[in-house]
Amino acid sequence: MHPSLLFFLLTLILPLSASSPPLHHSHFTKHRRKSTAPPQEYVAVTRPLPTDSLTPSCTLLILSHSFGNTTDLPPTNTTYSPPPDCTWSRAVLHLSAAANGSQHDRIAAVWLSEAELLRTSTPAPYSDGVFWNVRKDVTRYSSLLRQSNLFLSVMLQNAVTDVYTGFYAVNLTVLYYSIACNGNTMNAGGLPISQFPPNQKPTTENFQNGPAPPKPKNPLKLDENPADQIIPISATGEEGFWFKIESELDAVHQGIQIPLNTYRAVMEVYVSFHGNDEFWYNNPPDTYFESNGLPKTGSNGAYREVLVKLDGDIIGSVIPFPVIFAGGINPLFWEPVVSIGAFNLPSYEFDLTPFLGFLLDGEVHYFGFGVADAIPFWLLNANLHLWLDDGAGKVQAGAIKFDSPSSCLERESRFRQLDGEFEIQAERENEFSGWVYSSAGNFTTSVFTKLKFENKVKLNKNGTEKEVEQEVKVKKRVEIKNYNGDVVSTLRVERKYPLKIRSSSLPGATRNSFLVTTKLEQAVKEVEEDGNYKSSLVNSLKSSGWLFAQGGDVLSGAATTSQKYQVQGSVCYTRRILAGNGVIQTDTEGFLCQTAAS
Ligand SMILES: *[C@@H]1O[C@H](CO)[C@@H](O)[C@H](O)[C@H]1NC(C)=O
Ligand SMILES: *[C@@H]1O[C@H](CO)[C@@H](O)[C@H](O)[C@H]1NC(C)=O
Ligand SMILES: *[C@@H]1O[C@H](CO)[C@@H](O)[C@H](O)[C@H]1NC(C)=O
Ligand SMILES: *[C@@H]1O[C@H](CO)[C@@H](O)[C@H](O)[C@H]1NC(C)=O
Ligand SMILES: *[C@@H]1O[C@H](CO)[C@@H](O)[C@H](O)[C@H]1NC(C)=O
Ligand SMILES: *[C@@H]1O[C@H](CO)[C@@H](O)[C@H](O)[C@H]1NC(C)=O
Repeated sequence: MHPSLLFFLLTLILPLSASSPPLHHSHFTKHRRKSTAPPQEYVAVTRPLPTDSLTPSCTLLILSHSFGNTTDLPPTNTTYSPPPDCTWSRAVLHLSAAANGSQHDRIAAVWLSEAELLRTSTPAPYSDGVFWNVRKDVTRYSSLLRQSNLFLSVMLQNAVTDVYTGFYAVNLTVLYYSIACNGNTMNAGGLPISQFPPNQKPTTENFQNGPAPPKPKNPLKLDENPADQIIPISATGEEGFWFKIESELDAVHQGIQIPLNTYRAVMEVYVSFHGNDEFWYNNPPDTYFESNGLPKTGSNGAYREVLVKLDGDIIGSVIPFPVIFAGGINPLFWEPVVSIGAFNLPSYEFDLTPFLGFLLDGEVHYFGFGVADAIPFWLLNANLHLWLDDGAGKVQAGAIKFDSPSSCLERESRFRQLDGEFEIQAERENEFSGWVYSSAGNFTTSVFTKLKFENKVKLNKNGTEKEVEQEVKVKKRVEIKNYNGDVVSTLRVERKYPLKIRSSSLPGATRNSFLVTTKLEQAVKEVEEDGNYKSSLVNSLKSSGWLFAQGGDVLSGAATTSQKYQVQGSVCYTRRILAGNGVIQTDTEGFLCQTAAS
C-alpha cells in the first residue's frame, strides 16, 4: 500500500467501479448507516412525459423479477407480444424497482429482440431499502413493440453477500397510448393541457392564441417519426447484449445487409463507463502515476471519445455525457435525488442517410464502434433505425459530399511530484450529404456535426486537492432538401455539458481513514430548432458536502444537492428541487413561460 492517504485502495468489489484512491476514483459505499426508517423513494429530476396525465389504452406487465446474484450470468428473458386489440400510437416503458437491503449502485439495461430500449442504473441503497420509478417514451421502438413473440431481456448485474444483501426487484410495464392528432388532447409542445395544475393553466399570453395547434411532426426526430425496422448492433447476450470494451484496440462491429428499399437510416448508440473508467473525466495521464510510483487505477488521461465506424472509417463520434452513478464522487449527494441521466442514460444518434449510396449496394457493410483511450471498461451497443419505402422495390441513392472528418487533439501536462496541471483540447468536425431517390421523390440529406472538448485536471497541496473542469459542446444540423433545393425538414441542436468538480482530502486519525470535501456542478444546456419551433433546456445541478470514510465505507457526512430543470419553448416547464442530508427539502414545479425579456 502506498504511504499517501490519497491512494489507499478501497476494499470493495465494485460493479460500476473498481478499487481506487478517493480523489482519483471516488466510489464509496454507505452500508454502515443503520436506521429503521421505511424504504425511501429516490427520484430523477426530469420533465413529465406528454402522456403522463392521459389514461393508457392498454397496460402490459412484461417482467417481474428479483435480481440477486446475477454477475456473470446471462440476462433474464421473457417473451413479448403486444396486447391484442389495442390501438396505440405512443408507448412508454415504466420501470418500477425496489431494493430490500444495502447494495451497490448497479448498471442495467432492457433489450427487445436485442435492441436496447433503456440503459439505467440503480441507487446505492442502505439496509432500509429504497424504491424508484423510471418512465421513458419508447415510441421510437414502435416497429419492434408491434411484433409478437419477441424475446425481451433484462440485465442487472448484482451481487449479494453477507454485507450487501439487497436484491433488486424490478417490474417492467409498457403503457400504450392512443393519441388523437386533432389537437384536442395535445397542445403545441406535446404536453397535454390537462396536465397543467388548475392554478397554472396556460394563459393566452403563454400560448399566444389559446391552445396552439398541434406541432407538426418532424420526420427527423425518432420520437415523432419512428423507424419501420430496427436492427440491433449488439453482442451475443451471454452477459447482456452490450459489447464490453476494455481498450481502444477493442473495436467491435457487426456486418449488416440493409434492405434495398431503405430511404433513411439512423444509428442510435447506448454507452456507459465503468471500472477504472467510471470517472474518466478526472483521470491524470499515466506518466503522473508512473513517476509517482502509484498504481494506475483511473489513469490514461481525461479524454475519451466513442467513435462510430462504417466499414472501418470513422463517420461520427460522441464524447458521452458524464453520468455519475449513485455511488460516485460523494454518494451522499445522490440521496434521494440521483444525478442527471442516472436512471435514464442518454443515447446518441448518428444520421447515416448520406451513406445510403454505399449501403444500398446489396452487400454486407460493417457498422461498429470503439472508444479512444479507453481503459476497462465500457458497455456499448447500438440500434440501427431504418425507414423503408413501401412504394418501391428499390431505392436509389448517391453520395454528394464527404468531407473527411477533420479532428485535432492537444494535450499538455505539467507536474512535479503529486501536484500538476493536465489540459486536453479536442475538436472534430464533419459534413456529409447524399441524395436518396425513393417513391417520394429525390431528396438530399446533409448532416453537419461539430464537437468541441476541453478538460483540465489540477492537483494542488501535494495532491490532496483536485479540480476538474470539463466542457463539451456539440453542434449538429440535419437538413433535407427537395430536388428544387427547398429545405423541407431541418433539425438543429446545440448542446453543452459542463462539469466542475473540486475536492480535497485530509487524512483521518486512524489508518485508512480520510475526510473528503467536494463541490460539484454539472449541467445540460440544449437548444433545438426544427424550422418553425425553438426550444431550450437548462438542467443544472449543484452539490456540495463532505464525507468521512474508512477504506471505502462512508462513516459520516453531510451533503446538499440543488437542481433546476427548465424547458422553454412551445411548452414550458420548470422544476426546482433541493435535497439535504438524505431528504427532499423543497420541490416546486411550474408551467409558465418566461417572456423573451426576462
Ligand atoms: C507529499 O505526499 C507524499 C506521499 O504521501 C509524502 O511522502 C510527502 O512527504 C509529501 N510532501 C509534503 C511536502 O508534504
Ligand atoms: C411488482 O408488481 C407486484 C405485483 O403487482 C407487486 O406486488 C410488487 O410490489 C411490484 N414491485 C415493484 C418493485 O414495483
Ligand atoms: C430480499 O428479496 C429476496 C428476493 O425476493 C429474498 O430472497 C430475500 O430474503 C429478501 N431479503 C430481505 C432482507 O428481505
Ligand atoms: C452470491 O454469490 C456469492 C459468491 O458466489 C455467494 O457467496 C453468496 O452466497 C451468493 N448469494 C446468494 C443469495 O445466493
Ligand atoms: C436469454 O437469451 C440470451 C440470448 O438468447 C441467452 O444468451 C441467455 O442465456 C438467455 N438467458 C437465460 C437466463 O436463459
Ligand atoms: C437526385 O438528385 C441528385 C442531385 O440533386 C442528382 O445528382 C441525382 O442524379 C438525382 N437522382 C436521380 C435518380 O434522379
